[in-house]
Amino acid sequence: MKWKCSVRLIILWLIMMNLNACIYEDIELKQYLGELIFNDASLSRDGTQSCASCHEADRAFFDPRVNATSLDASTPGAVSLGQDDIALGDINSPSIAYVAMTPEFHFDEDAGVFRGGILLNGRTPNVLVQARLPFLSALEMQTTEAEVVAKVEDSYGQLMEYLYGDDVFDSVATAFDAVADSLAEFEKSDQMATFDSKFDKALVGDELLSDTEQRGLALFMDEEKGNCAACHPVPTADSLDVDSLFTDFGYTNLGVPKNNLVRSLNGRGLGFVDEGLFDNNEVTDVDLKGAFRIVSLRNVAVTPPYMHNGVFADLETVVHFINSRDVPGALNPETGLPWQAAEVDATKNTNEIGDLGLDAEEVSAIVAFLKTLTDERYESFIEE
Ligand code: HEC
Ligand code: HEC
Repeated sequence: MKWKCSVRLIILWLIMMNLNACIYEDIELKQYLGELIFNDASLSRDGTQSCASCHEADRAFFDPRVNATSLDASTPGAVSLGQDDIALGDINSPSIAYVAMTPEFHFDEDAGVFRGGILLNGRTPNVLVQARLPFLSALEMQTTEAEVVAKVEDSYGQLMEYLYGDDVFDSVATAFDAVADSLAEFEKSDQMATFDSKFDKALVGDELLSDTEQRGLALFMDEEKGNCAACHPVPTADSLDVDSLFTDFGYTNLGVPKNNLVRSLNGRGLGFVDEGLFDNNEVTDVDLKGAFRIVSLRNVAVTPPYMHNGVFADLETVVHFINSRDVPGALNPETGLPWQAAEVDATKNTNEIGDLGLDAEEVSAIVAFLKTLTDERYESFIEE
């Protein structure tokens, strides 16, 4: 009896091992398919734009291209052009490295706040749901599910059938779901989350932060100084991956000004107001108007311009803004003018933001620290 039982266990174990091996390989193949689809410009209406056009792998998965919405000749556009080279978005194309680790959009009962979700107002729960949208968006790839599926069947039909079943192309809906699934698997792959910045190396003792970087980190964490870690928590060597992204995934209104250049070019006009989190169907609290997701700061030094609408060209300006938004007479160093009013003024965060009393040297130390959050393969893009 005992003997029979252990044979059964061994067989069960063997089957499980085998199955595990299979699942593992399939995930890798799905990531591979997802990467091909991510980079495939033929999938947009005119065959000119892929996901990678606005999320370039060699550039921390953001859009480095200069266009009419650039604040100066060397800063990437504040927003991206659609595949027709005419349509202009209203939100800066974010770096999507690490983003798949964002928790699903939810209300955190303990803290009484919303957290997580994909897109900067969390209006899609996860990367799987989000991955369908750019194909269909009038501001992005401007195509249809049927068109995408036809092209994917042409180029990757066999691989799709192997991974998602021989009948995957029987319906457009099923095949389009599979396309989104492979993209989501690619976004969850290790290549999007390498955790090999100078900061990561310093955490485990493989590198040393310079004195200035170390000082920036201390100011970033000091509740009496930068207090940045209140919203952008600093990981420790024991943090789980999801706790290592320098965000608690909450939402707040930083009081970011409108990007008037973008609004004058994209047809929305200067009167338009983006209500941020309030536009999320699950949110009814008017105090959340103008709130945006607290973003990861990984690779922030190499992904200008800044804020959800790309209104600042330099990283240092962001820190100046958080430091001095509410200080009378404080100037935006990029315009030489006082900080513009917030797009949504009534709800802006005044507890943690706006008058920190950091001096210029402290601001640059924080910037030096932020540069250490750059993945190794993007370090050459850090500007001194
Ligand atoms: C024309 C440029 C453009 C293209 C093409 C594009 N995106 Fe984006 N992407 C954006 C912009 C802009 C946002 C931010 C939108 C928002 O938050 O409202 C974004 C947001 C995202 C996010 C969420 C980021 C976050 O922090 O929540 C993911 C994930 C993403 N895109 C994946 C993709 C995938 C996958 C494709 C291809 C199917 C794609 N994108 C194609 C511009 C683009
Ligand atoms: C109360 C929460 C909060 C605090 C405190 C805070 N931030 Fe943020 N941070 C945010 C939110 C929310 C955003 C995105 C805002 C937006 O785009 O509208 C953001 C954006 C940023 C960005 C721009 C990221 C990008 O890709 O555009 C940087 C850089 C940044 N914060 C650094 C800091 C530093 C440095 C400090 C401390 C001096 C700090 N933050 C304090 C919530 C916070």
